[in-house]
Formats: sequence, structure tokens, C-alpha cells
Amino acid sequence: MRVLVLGGTRFLGRRVTERLHARGDEVLLVHRGRHEPHPWLPVAHLRTDRRELAARAERVREFAPQAVVDTSALTGSDVDAVLPVLPRVPAVVLSSQDVYEAFAALRAGRHHSDGPLTEDSPVRAERYPYRGLGYDSVPEDYEKLDVEQRWLARGAVVLRLPLSYGPHDWQRREDVVLRRLRAGRRSIPVGPGELLWTRGHVEDLATGVLAALDRRAADGMVLNLGETGTPPLRQWFEQIVAAAGSDARLVRVADEVLPPDVALTAQQPQHLLVSVERARAVLGWNPGEPATRVAESVRWHLAHPPDTTWTDADTAADEAALAHR
Ligand SMILES: NC(=O)c1ccc[n+]([C@@H]2O[C@H](COP(=O)([O-])OP(=O)(O)OC[C@H]3O[C@@H](n4cnc5c(N)ncnc54)[C@H](OP(=O)(O)O)[C@@H]3O)[C@@H](O)[C@H]2O)c1
Repeated sequence: MRVLVLGGTRFLGRRVTERLHARGDEVLLVHRGRHEPHPWLPVAHLRTDRRELAARAERVREFAPQAVVDTSALTGSDVDAVLPVLPRVPAVVLSSQDVYEAFAALRAGRHHSDGPLTEDSPVRAERYPYRGLGYDSVPEDYEKLDVEQRWLARGAVVLRLPLSYGPHDWQRREDVVLRRLRAGRRSIPVGPGELLWTRGHVEDLATGVLAALDRRAADGMVLNLGETGTPPLRQWFEQIVAAAGSDARLVRVADEVLPPDVALTAQQPQHLLVSVERARAVLGWNPGEPATRVAESVRWHLAHPPDTTWTDADTAADEAALAHR
């Protein structure tokens, strides 16, 4: 199958591309050229900002995609720019579980709902969740609800992704713990760490994308992906410590003194736990076992540490928190 992948060179899309290539699909990657794995696969690249794809319509026609995977749509206009250029073929688009009202509640420190979120749970009442926050990698008009609406009207499968982790995760989700282990820290300040936040390993998420493409059973549907049996945050931290072969301890301190990067371990009024039953039923998709997946991810991140350094200020912040145990 000829698959046009929007994005596909950095984290989640990168793994999807590798899996498509490995099974013999022909891939055309549409991306700007800022992220270029090297060395990598012999796949075709169309280097352009997706918002200017109309100017490269001839190359898209020549490739004649039989399917599209959109891994890089963050705004409604990101989708508006590509739909007129793309043929009406099966499509899978990566969305986010930040569309749920429960996500807004967690960030605002209020309670919204109990129990796992399904695809029918209320979505955010307020649009543009990151507006005004000054995040470099997130446009002011970031809104996955706008992305979903446009792609659903084209009959695409919308996959709502959880907190994602694994090899090549540029957000380095485990680094809150691993950075302390690399610095030789033996005590890690934490709050109660009871938050339940569904996670997903890149390999399982890529399997979900391929299942949605192949089965076609979910065309025009929204599906949550994520691990089943999400342990509380504290237990996840313990899995990371164990996977790193460390004997560091998590030390309970007062919520008020937690360093900012471990603030989510404080008492939280809202969980972000999703049900993935629909994806399991419709796609026959099943995620891996979380502890095994965490161990795989930790191995990769230990072998590929980031450039960041642990500073004296970091030590001082942790020591100040640990003094309030
Ligand atoms: N990571 C998570 O935890 C998470 C959670 C929920 C949902 N998601 C969603 O999953 C998708 C993939 O996430 P990710 O973290 O794997 O993304 P990523 O690593 O940042 O990859 C983005 C890809 O899109 C390309 N790209 C970015 N802006 C572009 C533009 N304007 N025009 C053309 N290409 C562009 C990038 O290549 P170039 O830089 O070379 O253009 C890269 O290949 C995203 O839609 C994200 O919102 C991710």
C-alpha cells in the first residue's frame, strides 16, 4: 500500500513509518526537514511545511496515496491546508486525550468526573488549551477538537492518544526520575502520587495506527488508545527506578514543597484515566504489559541520555523538599 504520512520523522510517526516500511508499504513522508533521523530508512520525503502543501500538489498526485496517516496536525488550519490536496482515501489521524473536560479539570485543580473516560465523555468546554502559555512547540491555536472535527467529516479514524512514551520520546516522560538517578540522587521527593493518568508505549500506539489502517472497521470513529491497568504515578516512578537497577527511594514530602517537575505527585482532584475498550473491540488491538514496556523504554533512555545537566539549584530544590518529610 502507498501511505502518505504527514510528519513521521520524530517520535510516534517515526515508529509508524518504520513499521509501515518493515512490512513492505511504500511511504511518502511530508515534513519540513527539521527532524531527520540519520541514518534511517530509504523512504521518500516531501519536504515542505504542511500549510504549503498546495504548492506541492503535483508530487502528492504522482505518489497517488492509497492511505494517509496524519501525525502532525495541531490546529484546524493545519488540516484545512492539506485536505484539498489529498485524495479521499482511508485516513488515520493522531489526536490527544487533552480533548476531554477531565483534562481541563486536572490542569485547573478541580474535580470533574469519576471513572474511566470513554469516547463519549464530555470534551473541553473551553477551546485552545495552551493559548497564552508561551510553549515553543505548541501553536497558540492548538486545538485537537478542531483537528478531529475536520478529519471526521472526511471519514478518518481519530485516535485519541494518552501520555506517550518510549524510544525517541523527545518529551522524555521518565526523565523526571532518570535525571535524578543520573545525578546520583538516592532520595526522590514525591507527594502521595495517587494520580491515575493513562499512558501508552510508542510500539503499542503504532500497532493501533496500523490496525486502524488495515481493518477499516473504525472509519469515521473516535477511539482512545492507552494501556490497561494504569498504576498510580508513584508506582510508575517505582517501576522506573527498578527498571534502571537503582536502589533510590521515593520519599514522601509535603505537597507544598514539591519541586515543580514532581508537582503532579501532589494530591490531585481529577484523574485522567481512559477506557480503551472500544479500540480493543473494534480493532482487536491490545497494548503490552505496562511494567515490561516501562523497562524497555527506560533501557533506551539510559542508553540515549539527553544533553541536559543536573545543577546545584536542582540539588538545592530537592534537598529543601526532603527537609519537609
Ligand atoms: N507525544 C505525546 O505524548 C502525544 C500525546 C498525545 C497526542 N500526541 C499527538 O501525536 C502526534 C505525534 O506526536 P509526536 O510527539 O510523535 O510528534 P513529533 O515527534 O513532534 O513529530 C512531529 C512530526 O511532524 C513534522 N512536522 C511538525 N510540524 C510540521 C509542519 N508544520 N509541516 C510539516 N511537518 C511538520 C515533524 O517533522 P519536521 O520537524 O521535519 O517538520 C515530525 O516529523 C501529534 O499530533 C501529537 O499532538 C502526542
